[in-house]
Amino acid sequence: METDFVKLRAEALPRGVATATASLVASAKNATVTDTEGREYIDFAGGIGVLNVGHSHPKVMAAAHAQLDRFAHTCVHVMGYEAYIRLAARLNEKAPGDSPKRSYFVNSGAEAVENAVKIARCATGRPGIVVFENAFHGRTNLTMGLTSKISPYKRDFGPFTPEIYRIPYAYCYRCPLNLKYPACKVECAELLRRGFENLFQPDKVACVIAEPVQGEGGFIVPPLEYHSRLKAICEEHGIVFVADEVQTGFGRTGKLFAMEHYGVEADIMTTAKSLGAGYPIAGITGRAEIMDAVHPGGIGGTYGGNPLSCAVGLTVLDIMEEENLPERANEIGRRVGDRFSAMQRRFPQIGDVRGLGAMIGMELVTDPVTKEPATALTKAYRARLFENGLMSIVAGTYDNVVRTLMPLTIEWDTLDRGLDIMEETFVQVLAAG
Ligand SMILES: Cc1ncc(COP(=O)(O)O)c(C=O)c1O
Repeated sequence: METDFVKLRAEALPRGVATATASLVASAKNATVTDTEGREYIDFAGGIGVLNVGHSHPKVMAAAHAQLDRFAHTCVHVMGYEAYIRLAARLNEKAPGDSPKRSYFVNSGAEAVENAVKIARCATGRPGIVVFENAFHGRTNLTMGLTSKISPYKRDFGPFTPEIYRIPYAYCYRCPLNLKYPACKVECAELLRRGFENLFQPDKVACVIAEPVQGEGGFIVPPLEYHSRLKAICEEHGIVFVADEVQTGFGRTGKLFAMEHYGVEADIMTTAKSLGAGYPIAGITGRAEIMDAVHPGGIGGTYGGNPLSCAVGLTVLDIMEEENLPERANEIGRRVGDRFSAMQRRFPQIGDVRGLGAMIGMELVTDPVTKEPATALTKAYRARLFENGLMSIVAGTYDNVVRTLMPLTIEWDTLDRGLDIMEETFVQVLAAG
């Protein structure tokens, strides 16, 4: 008898592990996923920003197979291996800025952010961490505390780590200061300095952690002056500036790292997701003098930078260059942005279209004047997109931002078909009320 996986899932997994669809994947190639019933989906989710080089890239497969034939694990603290060292050196060379760098590896984005905090605290001898509204940094206890959104990420999971302070981010569509760019002169960056007066003592702050473009928070793109202003304030007070590039990294925004758009060299940069093309790995890359503040043996872990993921990571960096994927991200972004803007002119429910490179989102509202989030519409839209053969995911504090994280290797006709589905489905969902 055939297994009923819907039933088995409900029996075997806790309900807290949510899934967007009951369908199960059978295989995936570049930007197309096939389920166990033989149905094909165009993948605009990319495993939540993990598949910038696409599913099953032949070079990734070859690198993974070659590594599997050699060895799986020694633990880098017992006997190291070349791929780990080479990957660290490549990231040091590629990270924005000229300062000498150091890198090492852990298993997930959350772990990378935790490690960045450990290093910043060790290097400064200070406890405080400043983060932003709408931020997402992970689901461990520390990173849950750093994450902004309560439901579902933090609800009933406290208590959280102390010494975390939160200030508003540069969310121009819903400006925290009710100002308009450029007349605002990016006054929101000064909210960090204002925090020194009434929220946190600057010489007790170890680090400020910012996503260059907020991902889970709703694809929020700050003005180009924003991050350099934050960094300058950090420098004045000896605070470590951490750029969380877990979602923005590896070509997604049209540069290898999004901070390149902002002309900012972070003191520490965290990466994960598309570095491993599906194999778990995350990186912590930082200025040598900060990274070397930690005593020998103070950082690491059993699986961090496992050989398979390091071999794949090196190949991902090669593919980025060989296939010019950051530039391709810009072209994808132009096509997606043009289509979303055309849709916005048709549908008042599309309140804002924004993005950087191929990291494009549209924020849905019930009314463009009040900007009331259209959470129910967004939910219905995503469900109908699945039915119509397009995998997509949403973001935002109010779950009302439709975002695109398709592989940067997506074929042009697949991209255009996906965009057609998005437009047709929007009409269907509005008609269904
Ligand atoms: C900016 C950012 N930081 C950290 C994380 C956490 O990464 P992981 O899920 O690999 O722990 C995410 C995940 O979406 C992210 O987008």
